[in-house]
Amino acid sequence: MARVVKLAVIPGDGIGPEVIAEAEKVLDAATAGSDVVFDKTRFSLGAARYLETGDTLTDEDLDAIKAHDAILLGAVGGVPGDPRLRDANIERGLLLRLRFELDHYVNLRPSKLYRGQPGPLADPGEVDFVVVREGTEGPYVGNGGSIRRGTPHEVANETSVNTAYGVERVVRYAFELAQRRRGRLTLVHKTNVLVNAGSLWQRVVHEVGIGYPEVAVDYLHVDAATIFLVTNPGRFDVIVTDNLFGDILTDLAGAVTGGIGLAASGNINPDGAFPSMFEPVHGSAPDIAGTQKADPTAAIGSIALLLDHLGLREEADRVTRAIEEDIDERHGSSHPAPARSTTEIGDAIAVRLQA
Ligand code: NAI
Ligand code: MG
Repeated sequence: MARVVKLAVIPGDGIGPEVIAEAEKVLDAATAGSDVVFDKTRFSLGAARYLETGDTLTDEDLDAIKAHDAILLGAVGGVPGDPRLRDANIERGLLLRLRFELDHYVNLRPSKLYRGQPGPLADPGEVDFVVVREGTEGPYVGNGGSIRRGTPHEVANETSVNTAYGVERVVRYAFELAQRRRGRLTLVHKTNVLVNAGSLWQRVVHEVGIGYPEVAVDYLHVDAATIFLVTNPGRFDVIVTDNLFGDILTDLAGAVTGGIGLAASGNINPDGAFPSMFEPVHGSAPDIAGTQKADPTAAIGSIALLLDHLGLREEADRVTRAIEEDIDERHGSSHPAPARSTTEIGDAIAVRLQA
């Protein structure tokens, strides 16, 4: 009997629906003829929906999404600074709400410099690492407030929340991942200044690490980590870090491995209590929406992460290989690579899976 996977699809705004169409095309090609069937439900969420109805994410939306096995998201949000969206707060009200309510405590962001892919570094060597970013705590919990707003005496607080429970579970995930990969784990923090959260993270890494004697652990302050990500990205295997540092480091990681159009991610609830959510790292790119200039590779890479998460390893590897081959060919014959449309890239990758 076929295995049915209930997939919630949130195409979103701007280039979101454009890249998701290509990602779905590749998902269909990768699972054609297999005994897995994706039963998809579309959710219209994002800036466009807010402008139409005034809703960001209702409790009914959330309950309906929770009834799925996994989520595929394009990108949500309108033109930055659009005054009509000022009160919507799509980032907090939709994206962060999903990540918090669905307990996505692992934000998984792999960075790989594909063969043939030009990047900004002169001699990058092998670059293949994963950032495990904590997804439910840190300064992103919305714990804070302000008084005397708009006056010269305004006071604003944004408190970083770090719990032993929250840090332990993400650190353990990172150790497990490092053990399956090349056995190196780097904790990135700022323990010399953020001494309270820093000492909690360091203690937990030390204690959990005792159970993983074959994983080599090192530590970098976040500012030093940004240097190494540019000068020697090949030194990293798995990086574990908090929500804020992880957000910033992964944009840099995306930039050194060929750009935002390639960076995929998973917001994962490893316990399986809630559906995990897979999405490109980039946003809705209103500046290029409707022009077919969006690279769908990041969204397609998110399909590989989705398949892997569902235990469909063979299908996941085939998608990754198809991406690798496509990138290799993109840059193989001429530099710079000839521009291809969003659809052409999606078609080219899907065709490789039908072969
Ligand atoms: P962005 O990632 O949408 O765009 C930044 C730059 O990268 C733009 O020049 C864009 O054209 C380019 N770019 C992005 N994705 C690309 C792709 N696949 N191929 C080629 N070029 C690409 O970030 P920005 O401009 O800061 O945000 C735009 C909107 O997206 C905002 O409303 C923001 O809140 C939202 N956003 C949503 C995210 C999500 O849904 N996960 C994540 C980041 C931003
Ligand atoms: Mg970000």
